[in-house]
Amino acid sequence: MNKGEGSKTAVAAAMLRAAHQLLDGPHKLLADPVVLRLLGTEAIEWILANQQYYFLPGILAMRTHIVLRSRYAEDCLKVACKEGIRQYLILGAGLDTFAFRQPDWAKELQIIEADHPASQQNKKERLDKAALSMPSNLHFLETDLESLELQLALNSPLIDYHKPVFVACLGVLIYLSPQSIANLFRWAGGLPQGSQLVFTASFNTESRNSLLADKAAKAGEPWISYFSMPELEARLIECGFDHIELLTPAIAEEQYFKGAHLVLPPPRRTSIVKAVI
Ligand SMILES: C[S@@+](CC[C@H](N)C(=O)[O-])C[C@H]1O[C@@H](n2cnc3c(N)ncnc32)[C@H](O)[C@@H]1O
Repeated sequence: MNKGEGSKTAVAAAMLRAAHQLLDGPHKLLADPVVLRLLGTEAIEWILANQQYYFLPGILAMRTHIVLRSRYAEDCLKVACKEGIRQYLILGAGLDTFAFRQPDWAKELQIIEADHPASQQNKKERLDKAALSMPSNLHFLETDLESLELQLALNSPLIDYHKPVFVACLGVLIYLSPQSIANLFRWAGGLPQGSQLVFTASFNTESRNSLLADKAAKAGEPWISYFSMPELEARLIECGFDHIELLTPAIAEEQYFKGAHLVLPPPRRTSIVKAVI
């Protein structure tokens, strides 16, 4: 990533969530009016003027993935919140908007958005421009997930390490080195019992040669880390997780797409994982 500018792929992901608001008809997988404000008029006009691009098969599949991962994480968070979790840590939050459209059930949460300082700065500028004020339960934490001492990087008084934490890490691992991912899993696996990690991981090595991989590399954020499922499960168990759930295409279709009249096609691959300690 260009450390002076902030993440371009965070903006690209937000553009796909915005396209979902603008182009996918009345039935939404994720209703997110805030993302349109964060991106602003120019971006909205660009999406509306380039609708064909957003319906290319690869872009459509990526839109499903990006919208679904947020919806799934927020659904899991809702259940965790009902069970008493009060801390929501979003690693590599980018232009995530949950904190700005939080439902009543989230009001008792402390929400911590951890991201690279440059990406966070970019978000703050967008928030100012959109006249969106910070909710009182939202905190920003500058973090470099490539830092060797992840625990120190995340060692913040904002997080109470005696209580369970719900951690989301969406669209981030693919950019991190294997060593940083190992550190992250070890750190997350050491969180108190009841903590949860919802994350995305790429199992599809063929995607290295896709249009989107090429775009990410050109943006200075190459896709570098891929997993096999057995390897991922073994690593998570070794790090202290004891319940690992994959959002398979069949489950996703049943849970989110069947009868929902969505324009978005259901996912064809598994890439969203929930791991519980
Ligand atoms: C593709 S974006 C995903 C953003 C968001 N999670 C979403 O779903 O829209 C990747 C995010 O990871 C963050 N990121 C990448 N490498 C990072 C690092 N070494 N430390 C902290 N954040 C990093 C970027 O700043 C960016 O916000």
